[in-house]
Amino acid sequence: MNLNSYLKEKEDIINKALDTVLPKEDEFPQRLHKAMRYSVFAGGKRVRPILCLACAEVFAKLNENITNIGCAIELIHTYSLIHDDLPALDNDDLRRGMPTNHKVFGEAMAILAGDALLASAFSIMASCKAATNDEQASLLDTIREIAKAAGSTGMVGGQVVDIESEGKEVAFPVLEYIHIHKTGELILASCRAGAIMAGADEKPLEAITKYGEAIGLAFQIADDILDVEGQREHMGKGVGGDAKKGKITYPAVLGIDESRKRAQELVDIAITVIGNFGPKAKPLVEIAKYIVERRK
Ligand code: IPE
Ligand code: IPE
Ligand code: MG
Ligand code: MG
Ligand code: MG
Repeated sequence: MNLNSYLKEKEDIINKALDTVLPKEDEFPQRLHKAMRYSVFAGGKRVRPILCLACAEVFAKLNENITNIGCAIELIHTYSLIHDDLPALDNDDLRRGMPTNHKVFGEAMAILAGDALLASAFSIMASCKAATNDEQASLLDTIREIAKAAGSTGMVGGQVVDIESEGKEVAFPVLEYIHIHKTGELILASCRAGAIMAGADEKPLEAITKYGEAIGLAFQIADDILDVEGQREHMGKGVGGDAKKGKITYPAVLGIDESRKRAQELVDIAITVIGNFGPKAKPLVEIAKYIVERRK
């Protein structure tokens, strides 16, 4: 299996579906729709929707619902990036290789574009067609889990503790809380959503859950490491900002070598817990490795 062609194939599916579900730029209010599309199509890696599709494909063939759930997750993720970059949060000027949303459209529009992307995500998910009672139950479970992962006890909660901890000395459990919540939860929900929508039974869903938890945390550790060691040209976003802002990161708390070790341990756990799935889970194995080996 070639990971790059796999990622490209899935990315194309997601990008096409995103173009279909988002309002066109010429739809009123045009500037808002332009701002939404600007960040969605700025060139993200699409890791979360790809994970959603990859986890689904372990259990069933892809369908439009699964793709649309993946799109909804990417819209929530994109909104979180637009808001994360605002002056009130991380105050960054480069994202996905382009000036940040508020640099181009102004702060008010960036806030509102984020708000609209979040609402669109739920509209898209609630518009999925569920024919049977089982399908309806799976869809409702999926929407509930994604809402929880995005909310005050998920991503937003993690963002709050991230901001409140800037410049402070915090205990290790606080660092873990930040990472698991601001980033881990939505990645975990992406994995579970795909599996649930594909009708996974309880036992295999448990394995997907452990996989998602491990790579979710590993993903943010890798993000922290890349902020120290990565290059702006590869990353398409600023580097070195975490140290300047006094962010609570793995490298800041544990050092680079220990951080790399932890991330690798988590990837090993992720690969082990899906060991029983066999060849169907090969993409999940490769994505887990990619999460710590990536350069952007
Ligand atoms: C960046 O996420 C923000 C984090 C949660 C670490 P990604 O690295 O997935 O960013 P894109 O979507 O590829 O731009
Ligand atoms: C962001 O964490 C997590 C989000 C929920 C957006 P970071 O602040 O480290 O993400 P980057 O490095 O700006 O992409
Ligand atoms: Mg941040
Ligand atoms: Mg940031
Ligand atoms: Mg970062």
